[in-house]
Amino acid sequence: MPVPAFGLGTFRLQGQVVIDSVSTALELGYRAIDTAQIYDNEAEVGQAIADSGIGRDELFVTSKIWVANFARDKLIPSLKDSLRKLRTDYLDLTLIHWPSPENQVPVEEFMAALLEAKELGLTRQIGVSNFTIDLMGQAIAAVGADNIATNQIELHPYLQNRKVVEFAQSQGIHITSYMTLAYGAVLDDPVIQQIAEQHRATPAQVTLAWAMQSGHAVIPSSTRRANLESNLKACALTLSEEDLQRIASLERGHRLTSPAGIAPAWD
Ligand SMILES: NC(=O)c1ccc[n+]([C@@H]2O[C@H](COP(=O)([O-])OP(=O)(O)OC[C@H]3O[C@@H](n4cnc5c(N)ncnc54)[C@H](OP(=O)(O)O)[C@@H]3O)[C@@H](O)[C@H]2O)c1
Repeated sequence: MPVPAFGLGTFRLQGQVVIDSVSTALELGYRAIDTAQIYDNEAEVGQAIADSGIGRDELFVTSKIWVANFARDKLIPSLKDSLRKLRTDYLDLTLIHWPSPENQVPVEEFMAALLEAKELGLTRQIGVSNFTIDLMGQAIAAVGADNIATNQIELHPYLQNRKVVEFAQSQGIHITSYMTLAYGAVLDDPVIQQIAEQHRATPAQVTLAWAMQSGHAVIPSSTRRANLESNLKACALTLSEEDLQRIASLERGHRLTSPAGIAPAWD
């Protein structure tokens, strides 16, 4: 199954807040959920999924392996722990959350362990996140491009990451855009607001539709029912070629996520 074009993010959301966000999203029709070991909310996401009564085969659940669990003897046990918390036998997609800081665990080692997890049926697909072109090349050398479903990266109108996108696409690797809304920053942009007015849409819908029409998957998060509901409607919005070009011109290299000690040397 290809990585769904639209899903729900859960970064920063914990306890009852994440249970409510996931439950509401599932009720509204979301079927793909993105979590991570480091978000410390897998158990709550699992609870919301179980309470929804929606069949496992209708859902697409993604989680991410944290950097402390990359070693060969740790990766699969940590994934099994995630599965227990998420109350499922398998993930649809398991990502390497960040490259290993200072290359402590070689790319070849954690990609091989991740591929083994796939072969064991613990995850249907595998991929990476926050990988540069160089690191993607190393991951491809380790397991083959066919085994890398996606590279999940920060991508929004103010940081379009074109070099990484072009390389990934040349290898048949799908891009998942995280922080598509730049954590809300692009919603005040005059160009995006103008396009939204023309389409009688919201700036969030325009931004999400732009990313999806550019061929990327999106996983916006929200704690509010109204935003969850309206964001989903971005799937029905079609922007013109001119709209897409105008948003493409908003690039300004504005990176929001670059944690010290973890982030690689960006392209
Ligand atoms: N792989 C990685 O390293 C990585 C890093 C960061 C994020 N991610 C993933 O990507 C997901 C998305 O990123 P994100 O949650 O950081 O940022 P985001 O989706 O760009 O923005 C979320 C923010 O936008 C607001 N928002 C959502 N819909 C809105 C709307 N229609 N109108 C106005 N405001 C709206 C939300 O506030 P309200 O709650 O008030 O709606 C929230 O403050 C994360 O949840 C996570 O799953 C991955």
